[in-house]
Amino acid sequence: MTGATQTPRDPLYDPLAPAVIAAPHPYYRRLRQHKRVYWHAQLDSWVLTGYAECRQVLGDTTAFGSDFRRVGEDIPEAQLSVQSLDPPEHGAIRHLLVSALHARSPASMAEATARLAERQVAGLRDSGRPVDLVSEFARPLALRTMCGFLGVEPPDGPWFEEMSNAIVRSMDAGLDPARAEPGTKARGELSRMVGDWLETAGGDGFLGAARAARDSTAPAADRGSTPRAAGEGTSGVPETVLANSLRAVLHAGYESVSRLLGNALARLVAEPALLAPIGGGAPSKGGAPPEALDALVDELLRLEGPVQADARVCVSDTDVGEERVRRGEVVVLMLGAANRDPEVFAAPDTVGLNRRRGVHLAFGRGAHACLGAAFATLQLRAVLSALGDAGLVLTARGPAVYEPTATLRGLRSLPVSVSAPAARPHAHRTA
Ligand code: HEM
Repeated sequence: MTGATQTPRDPLYDPLAPAVIAAPHPYYRRLRQHKRVYWHAQLDSWVLTGYAECRQVLGDTTAFGSDFRRVGEDIPEAQLSVQSLDPPEHGAIRHLLVSALHARSPASMAEATARLAERQVAGLRDSGRPVDLVSEFARPLALRTMCGFLGVEPPDGPWFEEMSNAIVRSMDAGLDPARAEPGTKARGELSRMVGDWLETAGGDGFLGAARAARDSTAPAADRGSTPRAAGEGTSGVPETVLANSLRAVLHAGYESVSRLLGNALARLVAEPALLAPIGGGAPSKGGAPPEALDALVDELLRLEGPVQADARVCVSDTDVGEERVRRGEVVVLMLGAANRDPEVFAAPDTVGLNRRRGVHLAFGRGAHACLGAAFATLQLRAVLSALGDAGLVLTARGPAVYEPTATLRGLRSLPVSVSAPAARPHAHRTA
């Protein structure tokens, strides 16, 4: 979250307060009941907790930008990426990433993802001791899956963890300015690493496909006689923007997915009955019903998605709800709150397997909607499916402890014991 810190903590919503980190939703609810479009002095921003208001802003790139240069602000070079550009500049890099994403068949991605999840669940079943579902399950699985997708070997563990965490923490630099500089440095280091990977990665992963897309996009027709700018690839995407965007893919793919898996597992540990329709607690015969699995995945994304907040800058004065937002003002879209807006979701805090799917904003909406949504969904689905098939019972062995970060919500640790059914036929799954 961006914003100023000189002002006192907000009485309704103090994002980094320990009680809010532990359980933010009562605070989101209170804020929404008070004012759906709320001026938050501590953040120096409007904070939006309603679904309709968040959708309005996400869908209007004319009045609300991701590119803060449109109102005269600077963006550090390490932060210029697909996430911080707006249409039309945004189009070229988004197009390059989408074509790289489509280079691999969905079936082979589903197969590889399922195999990794099954192997990780088998490790859980065989551990024979209490385990931490974050450090021993969600994070190694997300990293392995992401690196397989990119077509590279996983980077050095402790160094990468430090860099990756520094970026997550820096997303809250508006509340704690000391987090900004380590985040900028980490972005630069990871972009350099991914820039090197881009030249060396095998041809059949996402990075190989991105390289091919960069090199094969014919520029002549689009460019006329305009000479290529220094540092600009044949695709028309500057090299820095490409490297930063690929780093964003790595980072989003690792941090968002590992946090989603951890948050979702915490919900399942707290409410084990949720796994029953897909075979949890007893080995499933022939796999979980796909409808029940898809419904559970969508609800866990809505309720436990890791991205709590997204920001835009107002480019031209616009009414949002009952407020007039002025050019230059920042709006913070509380996606986690919007996903529990009772005007859209009845009994918003509970898992409802009969809801209409795909309504939530866990992956954003509009021009900047998440590029990895299908891949992230696949990963959660693969984990639930593997857990359902194995019929494992996960019992809490201590409190679920959350990282002190507000923009991206995720667990630091989730200690559990694992018990397996006595007779355990090995179920086989094909999708
Ligand atoms: C649980 C997992 C994930 C969640 C909850 C998530 C959420 C989001 C959200 C909310 C946005 C919109 C940001 C905005 O509007 O400013 C976004 C954008 C993005 N996500 Fe994800 N994401 C996840 C996983 C992934 C994965 C696995 C990848 C890559 C394979 C990915 C790549 C991206 C990229 C590149 C963007 C920027 C798109 C653009 O600005 O055009 N994400 N994500």
